[in-house]
Amino acid sequence: MCPRVTPTGLWAGPGFVLLLLLPCCSAYKLVCYYTSWSQYRDGDASCFPDAIDPFLCTHVIYSFANISDNEIDTWEWNDVTLYAMLNSLKKRNSNLKTLLSVGGWTFGSERFSRIASNTQNRRTFIKSVPVFLRTHGFDGLDLAWLYPTRRDRNRFTTLVKEMKAEFAQEAMLSGDEQLLLSAAMSAGRINLDHGYDIPQLSQHLDFINLITYDFHGAWMGTTGHHSRLYRSNVDANLDRFNNIDYAVGNMLRLRAPANKLLMGIPTFGKTFTLASSESGVGAPISGPGIAGPYTKEKGILAYYEICGFLKGATVHRVFGQKDPYTTKGNQWVGYDDQESIKAKVQYLKNRQLAGAMVWTLDLDDFRGSFCGKNQRFPLIGTIKDELMAS
Ligand SMILES: *[C@@H]1O[C@H](CO)[C@@H](O)[C@H](O)[C@H]1NC(C)=O
Repeated sequence: MCPRVTPTGLWAGPGFVLLLLLPCCSAYKLVCYYTSWSQYRDGDASCFPDAIDPFLCTHVIYSFANISDNEIDTWEWNDVTLYAMLNSLKKRNSNLKTLLSVGGWTFGSERFSRIASNTQNRRTFIKSVPVFLRTHGFDGLDLAWLYPTRRDRNRFTTLVKEMKAEFAQEAMLSGDEQLLLSAAMSAGRINLDHGYDIPQLSQHLDFINLITYDFHGAWMGTTGHHSRLYRSNVDANLDRFNNIDYAVGNMLRLRAPANKLLMGIPTFGKTFTLASSESGVGAPISGPGIAGPYTKEKGILAYYEICGFLKGATVHRVFGQKDPYTTKGNQWVGYDDQESIKAKVQYLKNRQLAGAMVWTLDLDDFRGSFCGKNQRFPLIGTIKDELMAS
C-alpha cells in the first residue's frame, strides 16, 4: 500500500503558513478472523492456521479464547498448537500482527458482565491477559463481548480503559511493543445506541471491528440480504436501519473516529427456505435455509459452498445495488461476491475508514479448490487488491 504524504497547513501567525510533511503511512488495515472450530470441517473444508496466506491480511484474529476462574484461557483442546501455527506465519511476514479474540456468541454476554462488573474479577482477568498473549506470541487482544446491554455500558468502558492501561504499563516494564486492543461491536442500531460509550471506547481501542453483517435472519420472516450496503426499496420499518451505510453513518455520528473504524465484510451467505413461489427480496420464508455440506449449520453457507450452489442457480442483484442473491428450488442465499466487495471497499475508502474486517478466513475458498481457477482466498484477495488500488 502506497505511503501518502499529506501537506498540512498550520497558521503560525499572520502571514505565516508552516507546511508540515507528515512522514508516514496511512495504509488500510485488513483484519481477518480465523475460527478454531473450522479445523473440524470435513475434507478440503478443514482449516488450520497454516492454510492462511501470511501476506493477505495485516492482522489475523484467532477466535475464540475462554475465560475460566476470571482468567483468560484456551477453548479448544489443541489451541496451544494452533496458536503456535498461527504465530509462526510471522516468520514469513514480520509485519503481520495477530490478536486473540476472547468471548463470542457461545460464551455469551452474561459472563462478561459478571467479570466486568466486579472490581476484583475484572482485575484478575486484566492481569491474566498480557502474560497469556506474550506466552503464545500474540500482538494483542480482541474483546468479543456480544453484546453489552444498556446496563453494561459503563462496565464495558471500564474494562477497556483498564485493559489499555495494563497494556501500557506492561509495555513500559517489558520494553516490548505495546499490545493492541480491539473490540468487535454490534452494528445494530439498538445495541449501538445503548450498549456503547463510543467516544470513550474509541479513545482506548486501537481499532473497532464493526459487525456489518447478520443484519437479516430467519426471525424476520422474509428473505433479505444480511450485509447490504444500502437500504433497499423493500426494507420497511426497523429494517431500514439494517444496512452498512446506516450503521457506519451512525457510528460516525456517535463520534467514532473513522480512522479506527473497520467495516465488517462476510465471506459467508445467509440462507432461507422460501414459503411460496415468490423469490425476490422480502419474499415470505418458512425458516432458515438447509445446512451446507461442510459448515453443517442451518441458515448459513460458506463462500466455497455457495460456489457449488451456484451451479444451475440464478444470480440476481438487490434492486439498484451490487449485493447478490441466488435462488435454486426453494433455497434463497444472500451473499457477497467480488463485485459486491468492490463496491463495499470503494464505500469504506470514500468514508475514509481504517479498512476492512473479514469474518472469516476459513469461510472463503482458502484452498482455491471449490470456486475454480485455483485462486486461493478469492474474496479476501479482492478486498486486499481493492484496498491497495489507488
Ligand atoms: C470455559 O470456562 C468455563 C468456566 O471455567 C468452563 O465451565 C467451560 O467448560 C469452558 N469452556 C470450554 C470450551 O473449555
